[in-house]
Amino acid sequence: MTGGAVLAVDQGTSGTKALVLCPERGVIGTGTAPVRPRHLPGGLVEVDPRELYDSVVIAGRAALAEADTPVVAVGLANQGETVLAWDPATGEPLTDALVWQDRRAASVCAGLDAHAEELRRLTGLPVDPYFAAPKMAWIRRHATGAGVVTTSDAWLVHRLTGAFVTDAATAGRTGLLDLDTVTWSETALDLYGLGGESLPRVVDCDTPVGTTTAFGPALPLTGLLVDQQAALLTQSADDPAAAKCTYGTGAFLLAQTGPEPRRAASGLVSCVAWRLGGSVTHCLDGQVYTVASAVRWLTDLGVISGAAELDAVGGAVPDSGGVTFVPAFAGLAAPWWRGDVRGSLTGLGLDTGPGHLVRALCEGIAAQVVELAAAAASDRGAPLTALRADGGLTRSALLMQTQADLLQLPVEVASLPDATALGVGAVARLGHHPGLTLREAVPEWKPSAVYEPRIPADEAAERLGRFRAEVSALVERSAGAG
Ligand code: G3P
Repeated sequence: MTGGAVLAVDQGTSGTKALVLCPERGVIGTGTAPVRPRHLPGGLVEVDPRELYDSVVIAGRAALAEADTPVVAVGLANQGETVLAWDPATGEPLTDALVWQDRRAASVCAGLDAHAEELRRLTGLPVDPYFAAPKMAWIRRHATGAGVVTTSDAWLVHRLTGAFVTDAATAGRTGLLDLDTVTWSETALDLYGLGGESLPRVVDCDTPVGTTTAFGPALPLTGLLVDQQAALLTQSADDPAAAKCTYGTGAFLLAQTGPEPRRAASGLVSCVAWRLGGSVTHCLDGQVYTVASAVRWLTDLGVISGAAELDAVGGAVPDSGGVTFVPAFAGLAAPWWRGDVRGSLTGLGLDTGPGHLVRALCEGIAAQVVELAAAAASDRGAPLTALRADGGLTRSALLMQTQADLLQLPVEVASLPDATALGVGAVARLGHHPGLTLREAVPEWKPSAVYEPRIPADEAAERLGRFRAEVSALVERSAGAG
């Protein structure tokens, strides 16, 4: 890694983490600030946008205060599909931010059934409330017609610098970006009822977009990227064939596909990984909506005291005791795209204990990631050889071992946590030093642990079969209920 020290800010769902990254000494400053989204009945998840902005400033200032070296540039990673309406004249929010997990735009999506295939071909994204466009349309229909309605990054960047921009990768999470031209699609805008909206200019991820004094000194903002793509950048810069999965609030498996979009036949999302110096790299992306959120659910029920207890409680029993857990608390994303499905716990007996529930949850998460990995391999036409993993829940050896067992492949856990901040830091460095290569900007990727499969393939297939049968039953029941 070369170039000057940069401030890398990862604005995520439940908090903001900022790092000062020095090419010679690695992380020399860290700051964090929590964000508290509200989970409301009906699948609503919202947050006060001011909390997002304040958390960026608090975390960024704390990281700079800890570092003993001035930084040359700032990078900002964002949540991707979280949207709000705001007043471009004052910068004030006009609505709460609808968080990516929010399901209220299902009604908008239902009205677009007849155009779902056309939109998928055009934008690479299915019509699902997860993405930004349905939420933007919902805000326009039900909340306000005033101001602009954008993803959270555009608002944060405006607050920081005054610019009205979004990067190509974040624009690709809306459902409004033409996948071939990487420009806003009039057709998609019209279909979502958003024709005539004032949209941010789509810029390269490594474009200097302006100067901010929010962190103290005047600093250029030279890196913008969606969090998952930033984590992919960190984990595949040395090996574009590597697939990564981040285990956070949700789990997100991404794999690069090169300079041309690869339309996914298997249910994955096809989108922009990044556009650097005018060159686009595309990727495939699959999601498990509730991972840390599912662990929090077990915690709230008192089954465990928190994620740190997963291994101790799950390790007290040899297996899930016949319990199957489909943790679809907010519906099923790729490859099923069934937001209407809800989670299930089956196979319970009077002997079922906390350990069985923990193991069943780990299997339920890991089985969904297996489906995503299989879909990515089939769309790329080449089997995965390993999975690179990052995110807070990689600290659970039980989850990582379960993942390796069900995937029947090694799972390599990143030695450097915060792959997202490292990725957007690298982009900021590229934006500040345009002569650098990607390999020079990104820290070397090394695993801290490698989990090899410990069960035979037929046992993995049997466990996956049980999970798939339960998912099919849920999908059928939900269709019947609808
Ligand atoms: O698509 C949403 C995802 O990128 C959010 O990630 O880390 O904020 O939970 P995180």
